[in-house]
Amino acid sequence: MPPVMNPPSRVGKKHWGEVLMTASNKNQASVTLTDNQTGKAVELPVLSGTVGPDVVDIRTLYAHTGKFTFDPGYGATGSCLSGLTYIDGDKGVLLHRGYPIEQLAAQSDFLELAFVLLYGELPNTEEKAGFVNAITRHTMVHEQLSIFLRGFRRDAHPMAILCGVTGALSAFYHDSTDINDPKQRIIASHRLIAKMPTLAAMAYKYSLGQPFNYPRNDLNYAENFLHMCFSVPAEDYVIDPVIADAMDKIFILHADHEQNASTSTVRLAGSSGANPFACIAAGIASLWGPAHGGANEAVLNMLAEIGDRSRVQEYVNKARDKNDPFRLFGFGHRVYKNYDPRAQVLRKSCHEVLDKLGVSDPLLELAMELEEIALKDSYFVEKQLYPNVDFYSGIILKAMGFPTSMFTVLFAVARTVGWISQWKEMVEDPTQRIGRPRQLYTGPAQRDFVPLDKR
Ligand code: SDX
Repeated sequence: MPPVMNPPSRVGKKHWGEVLMTASNKNQASVTLTDNQTGKAVELPVLSGTVGPDVVDIRTLYAHTGKFTFDPGYGATGSCLSGLTYIDGDKGVLLHRGYPIEQLAAQSDFLELAFVLLYGELPNTEEKAGFVNAITRHTMVHEQLSIFLRGFRRDAHPMAILCGVTGALSAFYHDSTDINDPKQRIIASHRLIAKMPTLAAMAYKYSLGQPFNYPRNDLNYAENFLHMCFSVPAEDYVIDPVIADAMDKIFILHADHEQNASTSTVRLAGSSGANPFACIAAGIASLWGPAHGGANEAVLNMLAEIGDRSRVQEYVNKARDKNDPFRLFGFGHRVYKNYDPRAQVLRKSCHEVLDKLGVSDPLLELAMELEEIALKDSYFVEKQLYPNVDFYSGIILKAMGFPTSMFTVLFAVARTVGWISQWKEMVEDPTQRIGRPRQLYTGPAQRDFVPLDKR
């Protein structure tokens, strides 16, 4: 192992609190900023969407005032125009092209939702059949990819494999990487939606040391994924309709979610003109974090660590403790300050799926106890922390036979539809420009270089 060089202790480490305190003590920026040229108050347009908060258009602010806005984490910043998904965090509302998630989960299916997100409307019978056929005909992957995938260690995390292999797709499907060609954009979108389950299943089989299963065109999207994950050559795999239905519903609930961290990553990568395969690989990397899509795996690990209902309060207390970095995974959300509507659907599905499968998982009881205590706890009430999509999904996935290491992979399979729809919307937006945020600089002012012999 080469020697590790620790940074010299004299390297200044400014405490961010100092920076923000200095800024806020210096002067409070009033809403009426003065225009450098006219000396008058700056007029900024306010834009309104179909529903939801208006936005202040600050694109000319720097030109008029020489000032940036400051919003690390983008909690109060609209990054784009989008018509795909609308979230009302206070009311716990989630719409895809205007359709409530509860209705889509109850009445639609995943590929139909993919059509809605990609093209904006519910497909008619002919359109739906054509789209399903197009996706079905792209589910196989280049045979060399199975050799590529065998380069990983058997114990590689499936998300590491998925991230790596997805990025490599541009090396295999170079004929659909020209983002300016509408035909290539559609083929790339279909390839990604169709091949992600195949790659996810390959990553899972590889971790088991079992042979890969080829997709089957006689199965629907969810059934095909279960077949590729759970079939073995030694015996026929009988698809349980309860599990297939739950799988499709879980895909629906994870399909898209406005400008979350991984979707914003895909958009930022795509804004430079990068090919869609590279952009989706970037989205997978971002989703993996435990604060984002990695939370579903973290919830199951957390419940296993809590272990018993008698220890739930101890962990709620840890989550309240400012000096304890522990957070209750599956709780809280940047946007939802109410119950995540997806968590509501998943909570109900949890009971249905486990009852139908005849599975009684003590972790579900534990989760229900944890939810009950947390929702009554003053800290969680005051900070408006509710269960999010990740709180219950893992319990269903575990009951369906998936290991926790596959939970975020399944999230990525579903979110590929949202990512590629958002990418398509961005590429087709005539006003889109390369994303290039600015900063509040806190480093040293200009200073002269000091030769080595004078330091
Ligand atoms: C997803 O954005 C999306 O749409 C994401 C997603 C999607 O579909 O794409 O919905 C999927 O990522 C769901 C979230 C999954 N993550 C988790 O379950 C991890 C646990 N939750 C958190 O880490 C947190 O709630 C976030 C990351 C989800 C949200 O973080 P924010 O908006 O930055 O909120 P914050 O960290 O500023 O928290 C506000 C306060 C803080 O206390 P104070 O500093 O104000 O005193 O609430 C506290 C936090 O300490 N807090 C928690 C908590 N979540 C927030 N305290 C304990 N347990 C928690 N889970």
